[in-house]
Amino acid sequence: MADEIQLQKLTAGGGQIGYSRVVVEARRIENLALIGFMGTGKSSAGRLIANVLHFTYLDTDQVIEVRASKPITEIFEQDGERVFREWERKVVEELIHRRKTVISTGGGLPVNEANLLSLKAHALVVCLWASPETIFERVRGHEHRPLLNQPDPLAKIRELLAVREPYYRKADVLVNTEWRSLSEVAMQVVHQFHLAQSGHR
Ligand code: S3P
Repeated sequence: MADEIQLQKLTAGGGQIGYSRVVVEARRIENLALIGFMGTGKSSAGRLIANVLHFTYLDTDQVIEVRASKPITEIFEQDGERVFREWERKVVEELIHRRKTVISTGGGLPVNEANLLSLKAHALVVCLWASPETIFERVRGHEHRPLLNQPDPLAKIRELLAVREPYYRKADVLVNTEWRSLSEVAMQVVHQFHLAQSGHR
């Protein structure tokens, strides 16, 4: 595991859009993992990035739904969140064998620190960030996220984001998606991935 010595500002169009940790030792970076809260664009950006890199795209939520033979809302309803987190942990463990894959993860996955460590063993971990208000606008009307199916989803987003922020900040790279187009975000991530792979980080 590489030492992380300082944070470098990521800028685009004259403004800061995130940060990148400076990695001083070679890491095995064969995959790219996207972490971040629901609605930050992990799946959309992930597909685009996979296309640009000619990588396979994998979504941990989709893998879980296929294995469990039911949607995530039903896993939460029938089996509970604990069982869902166990599914997540198992899927993450298996990813260690992947190559050339863009991995989009469920928003709560990095809260289990073992998951983050495991991803960092083979992937550059990039966190996509957005404010609670932006997330709310992006997810409103969607009903496939059990944690937000409640009377005051914005309050729940604020609460969960506050708890999760320290975990998201452990990513190698953090990209703010506020006011950025999907392709701008994807290109920034691709750029960071190329830098990391060539050891220039
Ligand atoms: C969750 C996020 C969801 C999904 C599940 C739980 C979370 O994924 O894994 O509903 O805990 O934030 P997305 O982040 O892709 O919406």
